[in-house]
Amino acid sequence: MKELILVTGGTGYIGSHTAVELINEGYEVVIVDNLANSTVDSLDGIEKITGVRPAFEQFDLCDKPNVEAFFRKYSRLKAIIHFAAYKAVGESVDQPLKYYRNNLVSLMNLLECMEQFKVPLMVFSSSCTVYGQPKELPVTENAPILPAESPYGNTKQICEEILRDSGCSMPALQVISLRYFNPIGAHPSALIGELPQGIPDNLVPFVTQTAAGLRGELKIFGDDYPTPDGSAVRDYINVTDLAKAHVTAIRRLLDQKNETGLEFFNLGTGHGTSVLEVVKTFEKVTGVPVHYKVVGRRAGDIVAVWADTTKANQVLGWKAGTSLEDTLLSAWNWEKKLRGIQ
Ligand code: UFG
Repeated sequence: MKELILVTGGTGYIGSHTAVELINEGYEVVIVDNLANSTVDSLDGIEKITGVRPAFEQFDLCDKPNVEAFFRKYSRLKAIIHFAAYKAVGESVDQPLKYYRNNLVSLMNLLECMEQFKVPLMVFSSSCTVYGQPKELPVTENAPILPAESPYGNTKQICEEILRDSGCSMPALQVISLRYFNPIGAHPSALIGELPQGIPDNLVPFVTQTAAGLRGELKIFGDDYPTPDGSAVRDYINVTDLAKAHVTAIRRLLDQKNETGLEFFNLGTGHGTSVLEVVKTFEKVTGVPVHYKVVGRRAGDIVAVWADTTKANQVLGWKAGTSLEDTLLSAWNWEKKLRGIQ
């Protein structure tokens, strides 16, 4: 019988790509999502890609009775990948309590049920935001955790602390926390991808929407950073590569290969790319011009961050393999599909 994995937030951007990779690797997937920032259409995309429609339960993980009922219903559950969370940095500044309540309560409800129903394995969706602006680049998992720049970032730090403390009181608990750098792109089939609500905050959706004519021009936030071309540098990681790391992490937990009850891995490419390089590479691979203008720096932005991926490469046996070119092309193919562009 196939091993059953819960993917919370599984209709969302990274969750849907991970559901695909899990199914492709022979797992059975059940998705829980409240559709706060996604639609059920993702299930159609997952089904078209894999030939399998995962089970889907629509409820809010902050609602404890629903979480308990879920664990009772799916008593075969082997492990959990927990994506479901709010993730908009700016919104978290305006509505911090919304972020603290949602991101912390959902994790606590899951952990209580994991103990009660004896499902002690979790892969947690964390972020390189926990490092702030690291003093040394590339950043390793041992870099100090700096005070968070936003309530969103703080929820990721607090969630990691909750996981650490819970491990002390629940020795059976085994968690792998994956710290993502900047996930971009879409599935090569263009059947699933990112669906930002309203005006995108993130660079690549803004680039693709500008290229598609939905936005007049891209604003590049700053060209006076101490970087080779003056624009800020990030580690852009292909979303399918990222999804595959989750499958590797789940296997590691199921096979009891993890060395401690709470492990951290950086998920990036190991290369920094500037904002201007992203725009130029997009134009080169798609042949579509992106109108942009340089404006002032965005509050809260760091100068540069990219991952040291040695630990993920050596211990997880995972490496990001897709080029920036192919990844940006996948993002454009997804945007074209959404907008009906030939
Ligand atoms: N940028 C622009 N114009 C835009 C959007 C972004 O120039 O319209 C720039 C930003 O200033 C930044 C870079 O593109 O230099 C990347 O910005 P994103 O918003 O795409 O990503 P961030 O690195 O700011 O944020 C991401 C995740 C967060 C996470 C953070 C951790 O979206 O969830 O990484 O560093 F907290």
